[in-house]
Formats: sequence, structure tokens, C-alpha cells
Amino acid sequence: MPAVSIHTSIAEEILALKKQRKAIILAHHYQESEIQELADVIGDSLELARKAKQFDGEVIVFCGVWFMAETAKLLNPERIVVVPDKNAGCSLVDSCPADQVRAFKQRYPDHVIVSYINTSAAVKAESDIICTSRNAVQVVNSIPADKPILFCPDINLGNYVKQQTGRQNMKIWQGACIVHATFAARKLTAARLEHPTALVAAHPECPAEVLAMADYIGSTSALIEHCVKSDVSEWIIMTESGVRHSLEKGAPSKKFYFVPNENCNCSECPYMRMNTLEKLRDCLETLEPRLELPASIMERARLPIERMLAL
Ligand code: 13P
Ligand code: SF4
Repeated sequence: MPAVSIHTSIAEEILALKKQRKAIILAHHYQESEIQELADVIGDSLELARKAKQFDGEVIVFCGVWFMAETAKLLNPERIVVVPDKNAGCSLVDSCPADQVRAFKQRYPDHVIVSYINTSAAVKAESDIICTSRNAVQVVNSIPADKPILFCPDINLGNYVKQQTGRQNMKIWQGACIVHATFAARKLTAARLEHPTALVAAHPECPAEVLAMADYIGSTSALIEHCVKSDVSEWIIMTESGVRHSLEKGAPSKKFYFVPNENCNCSECPYMRMNTLEKLRDCLETLEPRLELPASIMERARLPIERMLAL
């Protein structure tokens, strides 16, 4: 009982501070449900980037990971953008340093660089166009067939896009998401045996063996929408378990099963889960940690994002 009242009072403080700061709270579906409950918008990385671009208040509080907040800042440079925890990073961002992308470009100047939104602003500045898991196939299909491509940095999403587009002249960076890449086909097989009438929905960052067993593959929001709207009442969900909140809200009578990954016996992103209600309140109060990017990076990194949004 005390825990509930503490949370209620923090929630009240957050709502009061939000009003005072003329702020909007954007939350990714992988956030704790108590944060999602306070958010003005819940979405996947593409939806949140679009919302950030439209916002004309003063402060964007980005409850997600750092690269997502960077994207919000790039699209809305006049606004203050804060994140509850500065250490909320991403293994995909870490796997793709900008100097290595620059070195690749020097060696292969003819390649079109397609970067997943899960990259740093410095890598975006080196890229020709950005994609998200929702539009990656469409983005690659928009590039003339004779142009060689480097797809950064997710190996599983890259292989999935290569298979969907039939694109042969596409090199793929060797980065991976520590959550999705560690989902094992073995554990999915066990879950299917346990829930024989359930279908499988998977995020394209999962390994190819897992995707081969999926009945539906899609980005975070696409996957939620599909499972909620379909006639099927039981789903095995191969993505971060924060999506349970929107799934159960959208379809309270359905059953959703989550398969633990190999590393930690859960399916939570440790970076996303660094954000807490307390840190959300504190960042609204202090407007720190705040996103600041050098002007030279801002200019160059915005362009490939704008190209994606124009598609
Ligand atoms: P979405 O583009 O589906 O939101 O995915 C972002 C992400 O970090 C997935 O792990
Ligand atoms: Fe990055 Fe994976 Fe976490 Fe998404 S789930 S933020 S890709 S580490």
C-alpha cells in the first residue's frame, strides 16, 4: 500500500511539473507501464520522431533511450529535450562508431549508407538516409537497384531487409541488439509446445531462425496493432516485454506470452529500464540531463532523417 501512494504522489508531481514546463512526455513502448501511463504519446521510434517534429511547446521529455532523444532534438532543435537517465544507451549504437563508418566511406565511396535510427547522431551525419524497423524495406527499395548499399548497424534487421527486397548488392554491419539477438529458437519452440494455439509475432531485430518461425514480423507499434486487431486470441511475443502494457490495454481478453532471452531470463531492455518515475520527475524539475549536439552534426544528421520522413 505505501508503494502505491508514493507512486501516486510522484505521478502528481510529474503532471504538475509538466504543466509548469509546457512539456510533452513521449514514451517508447519499452518503458515501464507506470511511465507509459503518464505519457502524452506512446509509440515506436518512427512515431515518436514524427511527434517530436510536430511539437511546438517548450520541453520534450523523452522516455526512451538516448539516440531516440537525439533524433527528437535533431528534428526540433529549438526545444529543450531531456531524458530521465543519460546512461540509457543502446547496444546497436555502441556497435557502430562514427569513425569506422567514415573509414568505410573512404574505402567504398560509391555505397549508399542506410542507417537504422538506432545509431548515434554522429553516424547519422555520415549517412545518406535513415530507416526504422517499420520502414526499412521501403527505404531500401527507394534506392536505385544498381547502387551498392551499406546497411548499419543491425545484422538481423539487415538480413531480413535483404531477404524481403532481394537486394544482393547490400553489405550489412555486424551489430546486434542485446535483447532481440539473444532470443533463441529453442525457447520459442518450447513456448509453442506449451501454447499450441498461439501464433508468433516477432520484431525484425530477432535472429533469422526466430523470424522463420514467426506468423507476423513487424516494428513495435505494427506488431502491437496487428496482435490487438487480429482474430487470434493468443500470441507469443518475441520482443521487449514493455509492449505487454499496450497489448493488454488494446485487447484485455487476449493472452500474450513472452519468451525469456538467453542472457538474463527476461525480455527487458536494460537501457530502457534505467528510466524511472523518480528520474522522470527530477528531469522535469532540473531540465537535466539535456540533449546538446554540435551545430555541425545537427545540420548533417537532420538531412537523412528528413529524407526518411519525406518517404
Ligand atoms: P522500434 O523502431 O520498433 O521502436 O524499435 C526500436 C528498438 O530499439 C527496438 O529494439
Ligand atoms: Fe537498443 Fe535493443 Fe534496447 Fe532497442 S531493445 S534500445 S535495440 S538494446
